[in-house]
Amino acid sequence: MSDIKESNILAVDLGSSFIRIVVGKDQLSNKAIAHFISLPSYGIKNGTIYDFEQVRSILNAGLKSIYQREGSNFKEKCILNLSGKVYISKNIKIEQKYSKETQIRTKTINDLLLNISEEKDYTPVHICKRSFLVDNSFETLNPSGMFCKSLQANFHVIYMLSTYYKTLKELFSSLHLDLVDILPSSIASANAILKDNDYLIPKFLVVDIGALTTDFVLYSSGVPEFTSTVLLGSENITRDISFGLKVNRDEAEKLKLDFSEPEDHDDFKSFLKNIIYSRSEDIVLYIYDKLKKISDNMIPLRIYLTGQGSKLFVFKKLFEEIFECPVEVRRPFTFSINEKRDYEHSTVLGLINYALNNTILSNKYDNQNLIKKFFEIFLKRGR
Ligand SMILES: Nc1ncnc2c1ncn2[C@@H]1O[C@H](COP(=O)(O)OP(=O)(O)OP(=O)(O)O)[C@@H](O)[C@H]1O
Ligand SMILES: [Mg+2]
Repeated sequence: MSDIKESNILAVDLGSSFIRIVVGKDQLSNKAIAHFISLPSYGIKNGTIYDFEQVRSILNAGLKSIYQREGSNFKEKCILNLSGKVYISKNIKIEQKYSKETQIRTKTINDLLLNISEEKDYTPVHICKRSFLVDNSFETLNPSGMFCKSLQANFHVIYMLSTYYKTLKELFSSLHLDLVDILPSSIASANAILKDNDYLIPKFLVVDIGALTTDFVLYSSGVPEFTSTVLLGSENITRDISFGLKVNRDEAEKLKLDFSEPEDHDDFKSFLKNIIYSRSEDIVLYIYDKLKKISDNMIPLRIYLTGQGSKLFVFKKLFEEIFECPVEVRRPFTFSINEKRDYEHSTVLGLINYALNNTILSNKYDNQNLIKKFFEIFLKRGR
């Protein structure tokens, strides 16, 4: 067995239908995906684990098969997705006044990050920088090197339920994995499907439609402004068909996947169409209402859909009708040759892309506090 490979990182997408694991390597600036595994998921519902032991054995089996192929048993850093009811997102403003002119350095910003407070029962697990206001006069994305007397930082912070976070940490540690970052599925998927030009659109929405969850994030001026999850996905459509037509789950799934708009009058197809449309509409309207309730300003100019659920044409149509803006269904972009890259791989590929392009691998972290791990990441990229 060879030694521990410091340059490896594992990305794990705990999906409701599949658990997907990717191993990324960063050797001599050569970033590559070394392993890609999908395992049927058990013990996860609506984006959260309800049976930790079951998930542990699935992950254990996945790791074993990677170790066998790798020829080594490595202790890895790991990046994970986050979905469901166990997290909240908040935009936070932190202000610092200095007694004399001060040059902004990495430490100045790190000190601001340490001021991000805990929320009752919630722990901050991921931070995106939104903007910095220097001397109350101008905004910038990267104030490093500037002189100022006051600095205001705007962050998009993802808070996870503390008890759930603690249990997750323990689960991964029992598998000899060091959980170094946790990204909401929507932000992870955005990292796999967006091109640089997309970030120039003033307001856009990224939606990952899965089996039992639909994760979404609204980007404003290229950075996340609102992140949330709908506890409904494409499997709910299958269940409705099964219930409405009194067929078993697999037959209902087949009817859903084979569905096409009825051209002539056809009672059966029209009935099926109603079932599919009404549940899909629930999902799209939930997102619309949630954003609209915050402000009229939260309505996007463009929408990107991904996740396997987005293959159902109905979603593109409904998003276009309800949001009245262009909608694109996107697969993850090519990361390395020969990798699998279908719609359902956006989250795991986005996680590994994020990890390999930031400094999670650089080992400069204090293991006690995830926040401290963001210092480097954060200055490099605000997404
Ligand atoms: N060809 C297809 N057309 C439309 N929908 C499909 C197709 N293939 C699979 N699906 C649906 O996609 C859903 C699974 O999506 P995905 O694999 O992205 O979910 P997941 O990531 O495992 O779950 P979640 O994100 O909810 O935790 C299933 O409900 C399935 O019915
Ligand atoms: Mg998913």
